[in-house]
Amino acid sequence: MKRVLVATGGGDCPGLNAVIRGIVKRASLEKDWEVIGSIESFNGVMNEPTEIVVLDEKTVEGIHYQGGTIIGTTNKGGPFAWPIKDINGNWTTVDRSDEMIRKLQYLGVDAVINIGGDGSQRFSQMFYEKCLNIIGVPKTIDNDLSATDVTFGFQTAVEVATEAVDKLVTTAASHNRTFILEVMGRDAGWIALHTAIAGGADICLIPEIPYDINKVKEKIESKYHKGRGSCGIIIAEGAKPIGGDVIARQSTEVGYNHVRLGGVGEQLNQELKDAGWTQGIRVTVLGHLQRGGVPTAYDRVLATQFGVKAFELVLEEKFGSMVAYKHPDIISVPLTEAIKKPKLVRPTSDAVHAARGVGICFGD
Ligand code: F6P
Repeated sequence: MKRVLVATGGGDCPGLNAVIRGIVKRASLEKDWEVIGSIESFNGVMNEPTEIVVLDEKTVEGIHYQGGTIIGTTNKGGPFAWPIKDINGNWTTVDRSDEMIRKLQYLGVDAVINIGGDGSQRFSQMFYEKCLNIIGVPKTIDNDLSATDVTFGFQTAVEVATEAVDKLVTTAASHNRTFILEVMGRDAGWIALHTAIAGGADICLIPEIPYDINKVKEKIESKYHKGRGSCGIIIAEGAKPIGGDVIARQSTEVGYNHVRLGGVGEQLNQELKDAGWTQGIRVTVLGHLQRGGVPTAYDRVLATQFGVKAFELVLEEKFGSMVAYKHPDIISVPLTEAIKKPKLVRPTSDAVHAARGVGICFGD
């Protein structure tokens, strides 16, 4: 029997379970393959005793519409930077990647499928350079991976955010208020842009187009007449004013190496007050609601296609590659290409053009 080990790494994302199911179901069509899962990314392999589960057809029954990941995930540490305390009690990291490869050999693993975002795929490439048979599957609600047209989870996040806008519009209109909805996306404005178009917002502020607070205020003013009116603003967590910086703080969680974004909605509220806007503003931070819950049908389909393709790449021994969607095909790309550069919103793109065409102001 041959064994493929599946791991989900980084922040969770709607559709992960559909990928796992796709891998398992496709593998079950082969007589000589078994799928196993490592709990909480590669921690399951590294932990003593190891935490590995068999993933068979029974295990994955009906999981395609469940949010999260049945094998858990983590966005802290990892085998290349495993957190440990030094003799002075300070946290430091050690590289345990060779140990992990030895453990995989001991577990009889022939191939690994690593489902994760850019950070996880960087690890996939580093493992591939150490001759591990590894395939990557991209995931992120942020949709910021350049090698694929779209990542699963993104559409679900946009759906959740759009639903929130639909609700905020009615309460803001009733009170002649302006609402600010802060959405996720890190350095990319995809979620904000699509939500603004789908939700019919008036203003959309994204990292790729730094905003001028006076332009934002002007647009709000145009939505009011004799004190009556309302205005909807979608702001990406990574947005910044011209000449300003993103709002980020270092996490105190051990092994968490990213900065945590958030707070830009409140900052905008203050900037508008400082610029002289006196009518009511309310800020909503959507946060992890965008990551939880059932994936949309679109994301389930894409995730299933990714899962099936990933296993087929294992059969074809196309290691060192990542599955990707290039309309209308599901293809494979070298991991090196996949991690080269992030996919950001192009200010001259058709989507931004269409948004401007329906009167959405980007604060520029
Ligand atoms: O990358 C996905 C994402 O949800 C970002 O949009 C967000 O900034 C970050 O992860 C939040 O991460 P955490 O789950 O660690 O709070």
